[in-house]
Amino acid sequence: MNIAFRLNGKQVQAEIRPDTLLLDLVRQLGCLSVKRGCETANCGLCTVWLDGRPVLSCSTLAVRAAGRHVTTLEGVQEEAEEFGMFLAREGGEQCGFCSPGFIMNVLAMVREIPGASEEEIKEYLAGNLCRCSGYMSQLRAVKKYLDAKAGQGAETAAWDAKAGLAAEAVCGAEGGQ
Ligand code: FES
Ligand code: FES
Repeated sequence: MNIAFRLNGKQVQAEIRPDTLLLDLVRQLGCLSVKRGCETANCGLCTVWLDGRPVLSCSTLAVRAAGRHVTTLEGVQEEAEEFGMFLAREGGEQCGFCSPGFIMNVLAMVREIPGASEEEIKEYLAGNLCRCSGYMSQLRAVKKYLDAKAGQGAETAAWDAKAGLAAEAVCGAEGGQ
């Protein structure tokens, strides 16, 4: 069967079998950041976004992507690099196998729960397994990244508020005539 969907913002078409997995499809289409780990929905390595929500591509049929938006690490490179700086500063950088899925989940969490507590972070990222390191440096990096994002949000809000007041002043002067 033939399906059409958006992959990292670009419209694509693909010929698939009814049992093709999303993991195999995105890799065939060149998104090699998506890794094959346990293939039993236990490690998080294969995480991609479907319409902006994280899913395990090893246990998602490719046909579910039809007409929808699929995002892989290749589609969020700038954000991934920004978060990568936080990981590196905390000594939390990980290998090329577990990092892509972990980063996709962190970036999804920032959107879904911008002010996530430590417990919420742990719960959200519980499905991302690393076989060789601890999790504390990654946790520190995630918390600092969330704080930085919240700070950016506050700056934007302050800027919007100022712009709003300025706009109100202009509209007020016009409205008084
Ligand atoms: S490869 Fe998909 S969860 Fe492990
Ligand atoms: S650093 Fe990637 S599995 Fe441990």
